[in-house]
Amino acid sequence: MILKIVKYPDPVLSRPGEPVTEFNAELRKLVADMFETTYAEQGIGLAAPQVNVSKRLLTIDLSLGKEPKDKLVLINPEIIFSDGKVYAEEGCLSFPEIREKVSRHAKVRIRAQDEHGKWFEMDGEDVLARCFQHEIDHVDGMLFIFRMSALKRDLALRKIRKMQRDGKW
Ligand code: NI
Repeated sequence: MILKIVKYPDPVLSRPGEPVTEFNAELRKLVADMFETTYAEQGIGLAAPQVNVSKRLLTIDLSLGKEPKDKLVLINPEIIFSDGKVYAEEGCLSFPEIREKVSRHAKVRIRAQDEHGKWFEMDGEDVLARCFQHEIDHVDGMLFIFRMSALKRDLALRKIRKMQRDGKW
C-alpha cells in the first residue's frame, strides 16, 4: 500500500520518534508499505515520521527497487562511528523540489535492529553514508534544511512559501 508522505512543516517531522519495541506482523507491513511508497516516489530512503508514524524506523534502497539485496531496514538506529566530511547536494521526499548542499560525514558505521529485532552493524560510505545520516536525522526529528547554511535555509523556506501560495505544496 502506498502511504501518504507528509511534507514540511508537519509537526510529526520535527518530533523524535518513539523506539520500536514490538517486532510483529504490523511492523513488517509498515516496512513493506514504506518500500512501496519510496519506489512510487522514486526515492532512496524514507523514515517512519515521513509517513506520519512517529517511530525510530527507516528504510533505504539505493537500487530504487532493482536489487532485493539492497533493501535496508534500520530500526532504533544510531551512528556509532563517523569520519570525514563531504559537502554535497541532497533532497528529501518531505521537501519536494528542494535540493541543496549539506555537509555530512564521509563514512559512518551504524548499529540498528532488523525487522525481527536482531541487532547488526553496517558501514556506509558516499551516498549510503549520506542516506544513513539523513534518515537517522529524521527519526531524531531533525530536518535537512536545518543542516543548511542560514542563507540557503532562508532561500529554501522562501521557495516553499511561494509554492504554498501557488498551491503546489
Ligand atoms: Ni528526508
